Amino acid sequence: MKCHSLSPAFLAENMMGPNSVRILEELLDGCTLRPGMRVLDLGCGRGLTSVWLAEQFDVQVFAVDLWIPATENYRRFCQLGLDGRIVPLHADANALPFAEGYFDAMVSVDAYHYFGLEADFFPRVIRPLLKENALTAIAVPGMKQPMQDVPPEMTPYWRPEDLACWQTVDFWDGRLGSLTERKSWEMACFDTAWTEWMATDNPYAVSDRPMMATDGGRYMNLVAVRGKAAPYSG
Ligand SMILES: C[S@@+](CC[C@H](N)C(=O)[O-])C[C@H]1O[C@@H](n2cnc3c(N)ncnc32)[C@H](O)[C@@H]1O
Repeated sequence: MKCHSLSPAFLAENMMGPNSVRILEELLDGCTLRPGMRVLDLGCGRGLTSVWLAEQFDVQVFAVDLWIPATENYRRFCQLGLDGRIVPLHADANALPFAEGYFDAMVSVDAYHYFGLEADFFPRVIRPLLKENALTAIAVPGMKQPMQDVPPEMTPYWRPEDLACWQTVDFWDGRLGSLTERKSWEMACFDTAWTEWMATDNPYAVSDRPMMATDGGRYMNLVAVRGKAAPYSG
C-alpha cells in the first residue's frame, strides 16, 4: 500500500469486509484528483478509503456512514492527523445533507448495494450533488451470473435477501448508465481483497472463511463501475 497511515495492523483492525483500500486502488487506477477537491466517500465504514483518498490525492473527503458513529471516525482521523482533511458524518445515503453541485468526485466501496439498487437512486439522490464531469466510482460485491435462488450448498451462508443485493456487472452498468466515459468490470483484486479480509481475526471475517471456501470461485465477484457525471439540468 502506498499510503503510510494504513499499516497492515491498522487496516486489519478497521476492515469491515474485503480490503477496501485494495479495492479502491483498482477502482481508481489511472485516475487523478486535484488537491483540495471535495470527494464524497459514501458508506465509508471506519474510513479506510477516506484516509487513502486524503493522503493519496490531498483532497477534502466527506466520510459518510450510517452504522459507524461520526465521533468514532473523527477520533480515528485525529489519531492520523487527518481531521483537517476528512469530515466525518453520520448520515443515511437516502437523506444526504449536501448542497447540489457540491462534489468533484464520489466513491463508494462495498456499500452502494445497500442503498443504490433502485433505478432512480443515482439520478435522484447522487447526481444532483455532483459537479458536471465529477469522477464517480463504485465497487460492490456481486455475482458472476444473474441468480434467482440461493444454490443449495450456499444456503448455510446466504439468505435470499442477500442475493437480491448482489448483482452482475450488467446490472450495475445499467444503474449507472448515465455516466459518461463509463467503464464497468469484474475486479481483478477479488481474491487478494478477500484473502486479506479473511486473514484478520474479525469474527465476521472468520465466519466468511467457510462461505468463501464453499463458493470456491463459482459465484461471487466484485463489480466496479467508474465514469463521469453527465450534464445535469436539475
Ligand atoms: C460492509 S461495510 C463497508 C464499509 C467500508 N466502505 C469498507 O469497505 O470498509 C458497508 C457500509 O455501508 C454503510 N451503509 C449501509 N447502508 C447505508 C446507508 N443507507 N447510508 C449510508 N451508509 C450505509 C454501513 O454503515 C457500512 O459501514
